[in-house]
Amino acid sequence: MNCNHQSGNLKSGGFFGNTTPFELAMEFNTPLYVYNEAVLRTRCREMKGLLRYSNFKVSYSAKANSNPALLAIIRQEGMEADAMSPGEIYLLTAAGFLPEEIFYISNNVSAVEMRFAVEREILVSVDSLSQLEQFGRINPGGRVAVRMNPGVGLGHHQKVVTGGKNTKFGISPELVGDLKKIITQYDLKLAGINQHLGSLFTDGEVFLHGVRLLLETAALFPDLEFIDLGGGFGIPYHKKEGQTRLDLVRLGESLDEIIKEWNRRYGKEIVFKIEPGRYLVAECGVLLGTVHALKENYGTVYAGTDLGCNVLLRPAMYDAYHELEVYTRRRFDDPAPKMVTVVGNICETGDILAKDRQLPPLKEGDLIGVLDAGAYGYSMSSNYNCRLRPAEVLIRENGDPVLIRRRDTLEDLTRNYLSSLELSPKVF
Ligand code: LLP
Repeated sequence: MNCNHQSGNLKSGGFFGNTTPFELAMEFNTPLYVYNEAVLRTRCREMKGLLRYSNFKVSYSAKANSNPALLAIIRQEGMEADAMSPGEIYLLTAAGFLPEEIFYISNNVSAVEMRFAVEREILVSVDSLSQLEQFGRINPGGRVAVRMNPGVGLGHHQKVVTGGKNTKFGISPELVGDLKKIITQYDLKLAGINQHLGSLFTDGEVFLHGVRLLLETAALFPDLEFIDLGGGFGIPYHKKEGQTRLDLVRLGESLDEIIKEWNRRYGKEIVFKIEPGRYLVAECGVLLGTVHALKENYGTVYAGTDLGCNVLLRPAMYDAYHELEVYTRRRFDDPAPKMVTVVGNICETGDILAKDRQLPPLKEGDLIGVLDAGAYGYSMSSNYNCRLRPAEVLIRENGDPVLIRRRDTLEDLTRNYLSSLELSPKVF
């Protein structure tokens, strides 16, 4: 096959292993999420090696990607996991995580949802005094964690800043007195405190500042089992422009230093945890799509693809940047890059995957690879416009592709309307 790749990722040994984007598209159709197991394992090992401190645990934040095949690999790599909903708990359990390996970081949940975790002996972190009281009523005498908000936050976009004075998350340290009263009232055991400042930092300064603030609060509780510093570890989405990686060595050294000093003050070596999501899974994922149309509208050249915002929401929601690769079977007459805006097939003006990009000249039938799509890609996809969510394929370490989630079918779209089907079968 004559397959001109804009860059790397060639057959045998590259991202696509023993196959090619065109073979994958032929077999599984597009849009298609493709994950590479070796890359996933590499990122897991990097995070596990962050600290020299031995009482250190990495808890994968399952919201970034909850495909059970990936979860099982992550567990094999020795990670625990944090969940944000009963659904994530359910999938983590299906992937083999034990209750003691799951941490339910809840936010504004019903008593029913809280009980779901308590009954499975999964540790719950609560996000307000009101939810701490609810926990106390449900599970008096139980173990619980609380999420603090130290008053600072970070993130690649305002919508993902979760710490600080303008967000709904966490409990302000000013309320520690009230918090202690509720703990005493319900005879609770405060197992740990946690925080998450926000998503994506590439320079650890704000994160480290937040850690120091959290430790000030932690010192007010003499009997903690663990302190969870949250996630947010960034990846370089602008690799081709030379963006550098987060310096994990420097960050780890600073954290080790802070923890050592704090343990001395606290008088014991308790567990320290982090909760990365994106760092572990973003770079192991490429989203493949097909160019179906080209047009020029009032001076803008558009490439119309099947990569709508239902498949990858990040660009539409946060103006997020993902690098693109072009795969074509043609030989370029003139390979000089041309300015193009890559859009999807969804009925929204904001359905733009990449605005004003310089790409090799595209033609109908070419494939596009969206890089670093493994985190918050599939997990934020939807059936908007009644589109079918894509399949997911894993390139195993031996290079072979395996299907790890089938594409939605049209029948999936009616599956939950069964009662109306029964009421009016003729409608369908
Ligand atoms: N822990 C908690 C409590 C969280 O809420 C999150 C992410 C994480 C850990 C993991 O954060 P990470 O290491 O992945 O940055 N959809 C957005 C990101 C939202 C993150 C929400 N919370 C995006 O696509 O950029």
